[in-house]
Amino acid sequence: MSAPGTAAVEVRDLVKAYGSRRAVDGLSLTVERGAVLALLGPNGAGKTTTIEVCEGFRRADSGSVRVLGLDPITDAAALRPAVGVMLQDGVGGYTGARAIELLRLFASYAAHPHDPETLLASVGLADVAATPVKRLSGGQQQRLSLALALVARPELVFLDEPTAGMDPQARRATWDFIRKLRADGVSVVLTTHFLDEAEQLADTVVVIDAGRVVAAGSPAELTRAGAEGQIRFRATPGLRLVSLIAAMPDGTTALEEESGRYLVSGDVTPQLLATLTAWCAGQGVLAENLAVERRTLEDVFLELTGRDLRT
Ligand SMILES: Nc1ncnc2c1ncn2[C@@H]1O[C@H](COP(=O)(O)OP(=O)(O)O)[C@@H](O)[C@H]1O
Ligand SMILES: [Mg+2]
Repeated sequence: MSAPGTAAVEVRDLVKAYGSRRAVDGLSLTVERGAVLALLGPNGAGKTTTIEVCEGFRRADSGSVRVLGLDPITDAAALRPAVGVMLQDGVGGYTGARAIELLRLFASYAAHPHDPETLLASVGLADVAATPVKRLSGGQQQRLSLALALVARPELVFLDEPTAGMDPQARRATWDFIRKLRADGVSVVLTTHFLDEAEQLADTVVVIDAGRVVAAGSPAELTRAGAEGQIRFRATPGLRLVSLIAAMPDGTTALEEESGRYLVSGDVTPQLLATLTAWCAGQGVLAENLAVERRTLEDVFLELTGRDLRT
């Protein structure tokens, strides 16, 4: 049903406007087969719109979208059994049914579904199987929504803010679940505004803001690019930093920010740390409160957009 040799999702120059406002403004991304891609951005960045176009729920104004090598709208019938969808607002219109009934109903449409009872238990909802969906907590509805997206054994899933409204424990369990999907070779596109979620789960993070890609790469690539890490420490004031800089690799800088407080910036490797502590020892100086500070995706986003991700 899906064209072999193609990416799981291929988006090129996607534009989607609501009225005169472009929610998605020339966005491109590729999700490799079997990979997890996180679309990371603040509220209103265009994450939901982008994946709704991929799901075939919205029509692109321009640009191209291929899902499993097919067109999400004209090939919708062929794609339906292969693609699982978890919507941002959860289970919506089915709230009168019990959790297990709803999952059985979805399973009944599939050719080779997971066993509904087993799947419900694996998302931690065995205890509330007979509870009407509308009586489930927000986090439980999210987990049911995840089970509904997966019951048909899709080869690609779209998860829109899969851990929104979950307590920390349910969040961890959902992360484990997504890791298992990846291990089973399922391709995953998820949206999130949680940095740790993107860093923990994704092979590729696409950071978007105002409908455009501002950065893309693996979490390691994104946090390594541009400005590097830094090391802070305290020691006696007035150290001869010229000789420290000479001892360290090219491109490393060192300065005394305040009396007795030092900042070393550069490519923070274990070797750099070893060089620094050896130099201090050679000066007969004890470096105290030594702290290595690495860039996070938050820093990357802030540098690129001047804004905070969580606003
Ligand atoms: N149905 C809609 N009608 C009009 N504007 C919309 C609609 N859906 C989303 N928007 C606007 O498009 C922009 C992107 O929204 P969305 O794709 O939901 O972003 P995200 O999922 O990243 O929060 C926002 O400014 C939002 O207000
Ligand atoms: Mg959204």
